[in-house]
Order: sequence, then C-alpha cells, then structure tokens
Amino acid sequence: AKEPVRVLVTGAAGQIGYALVPMIARGVMLGADQPVILHMLDIPPAAEALNGVKMELVDAAFPLLKGVVATTDVVEACTGVNIAVMVGGFPRKEGMERKDVMSKNVSIYKSQASALEQHAAPNCKVLVVANPANTNALILKEFAPSIPANNITCLTRLDHNRALGQISERLNVQVCDVKNVIIWGNHSSTQYPDVNHATVKTPSGEKPVRELVKDDAWLNGEFITTVQQRGAAIIKARKLSSALSAASAACDHIRDWVLGTPEGTWVSMGVYSDGSYNVPAGLIYSFPVTCKNGEWKIVQGLSIDEFSRKKLDLTGEELSEEKALAYSCLT
Ligand code: NAI
Repeated sequence: AKEPVRVLVTGAAGQIGYALVPMIARGVMLGADQPVILHMLDIPPAAEALNGVKMELVDAAFPLLKGVVATTDVVEACTGVNIAVMVGGFPRKEGMERKDVMSKNVSIYKSQASALEQHAAPNCKVLVVANPANTNALILKEFAPSIPANNITCLTRLDHNRALGQISERLNVQVCDVKNVIIWGNHSSTQYPDVNHATVKTPSGEKPVRELVKDDAWLNGEFITTVQQRGAAIIKARKLSSALSAASAACDHIRDWVLGTPEGTWVSMGVYSDGSYNVPAGLIYSFPVTCKNGEWKIVQGLSIDEFSRKKLDLTGEELSEEKALAYSCLT
C-alpha cells in the first residue's frame, strides 16, 4: 500500500475549505489509490468551526483518510506536509484600502512561508489560493528561500476552467472536448483568457475554437469579460464567493502537477516567471504549462498577436505594481 501523503489546507474552516477537504479525502486531488493525512489550519476565532469540520471528516468515514490534524498552530500544521494549499488569508472588506489588505496578507504569508520552510517535508509543493493569490505566492517564495521557486504556485485553474466552460456552452459541446485555452497573468480582472490556440474535438478531428465560433467580436469582447468577471457574477448570485468551483480547480491544479497533464494538453498555472514571452522575470504570473514527473514547464513558442501582447503586458504591469505595494508593506 502507498504511504499517506500529508496535505495542508489553511483557512480550512472557511467556505473553500469546507468544499475542498472532502474532495481531498475522497481522492479527487491525488488519486483514488492514494491515502492522505489532512492538516487543517485556521485562526483561533475559527477553532471551534474547524473542530466541527474535523468531526464531519470522521463521520464521513473516508477510506483513504488516514488521519486529521486540526490546529491553530502554524508549526504543527506545517510539520511534514508534502502539499500545502494556502486558502487562508485576510479578505478585503468594504471601505478598506488596498494597501491595508495587502499589508495583512503580506504578514500572514511571510510567517507561513517561514513555517513551511522550516517544517514541511523536503520538496513540498505549494499552491496559493487566497487573494491576492499571485502576490501572496510571491511573498511566500521570497520568505521561504530554501523551497525551490518552482515549487511555489498560485491558482488560476479556476479561470482556465471557466474559459473552457464558456466555450463549451457557446458551441454546445462537451467541456471535456475543449482544451488549451490559456489564462495569462494575474488572478484578477486584468487576467487575459486567450483562445487563440484552443481547440475542440469534433467528429471530423480537432478544430480551432476560432474556426468553430466564427464570431471574433464575441471572442475578443464578451468572452474575455465574462471570464474576467465571473467571480463577481458568482458573488452577486450566491452572495458568497465561488467555493465549490475553486475547490475543484485546486484539486485539478495539484493533480495535474503531481500526476502529469495528458499528452497534447496544457493547463494554466501561476508560476515564477523566467521571462518567457517577455513577461518580467520575478513575478508569479499565469502561463500555459505542461506537467510531467511532478514538474511543470512553460509551453514555449506560441504565437502572440498584437491584441494579445497588449493584454499580457497590462496584466503584467498590474502584477509589478502589486509586487511594489507588497514590498512597501515590508518596511
Ligand atoms: P472564507 O473567508 O470563507 O475562509 C477563509 C478562512 O481563512 C477563514 O476560515 C479564516 O478564519 C481563515 N484565515 C484567515 N487568516 C488566516 C491565517 N492567518 N491562517 C489560517 N487561516 C486563516 O473565504 P473563502 O471563500 O474560503 O476564500 C478563501 C480565499 O480564496 C479568499 O482570499 C478568496 O479571495 C480566495 N479565492 C481565490 C480563488 C482563486 O481562483 N485563486 C477563487 C475563489 C476564492
């Protein structure tokens, strides 16, 4: 039998946590033959709720779940973890300045970075979900210098999946037949959902999305804004932000990273930029990646037209500004 993998979920008493931990315990993240031990961290005001989640995990009698650590102690939470999904953070509340929210998250991610660096298992893989996801991941990277930069990522898979969903609805095809959309840049409304290389499996072979949709005005307009603003649309409808789709996307992200992407398919991940596609190096930026043997690689050589170039730059500029703001909170 396989050794259990220890998976940390921070903010586990929150909305996404509540959707995510049962998925992990059922094998959605790491496979139906992979036992797991869940480490759940939250802050003291949520300790009782966190314990309630632990009780429900016991009650669900998941065969793959070999143990649960539920704690408000960061060191205990991080000890020995192989995978860390960082969902906890300080939410933006009405009337708050951007700088104040950034400052709270910078201090959270700085201290959790140190705990992970000192106590996580070697080669721990980190996924940051909490917003501002790219910049929280960058702070985590900066304050955990012994964790390889390639092990620190942020979630843009939800945006990627939303783009697949929009194309599938528009063409009335199965979502599993649509592939290779790209989310470039920040997990924010400046992200660029790019369909220029996306395809659909049809009875007569793989066809470019652009050829099938035949409506460039929609693809260059409403499609992009719908994906960019989908989070806000969910909040409007549910009065709560997306949780089941975010949890599912977090599982997709880790599963593909660990187990590999299918041949001929890429996915979007926020990763540490090496300057590919003239994106500034040193940002956590969402790129198209393929994964194999537990490592991601940015897909190279895709053509970027003028329309796309502007959008890649715009979201990169926003990330550079966020980075500067985050650094200004450190002093
Ligand atoms: P939530 O407010 O329901 O849960 C957040 C949890 O984090 C709470 O239980 C809170 O007590 C906890 N927390 C706060 N500070 C903490 C700390 N220092 N250590 C550990 N836990 C801490 O929020 P929800 O809906 O679960 O969302 C979580 C985060 O995910 C938010 O930042 C949200 O903006 C982000 N998000 C990101 C998405 C993405 O695609 N990257 C998609 C959807 C949400």
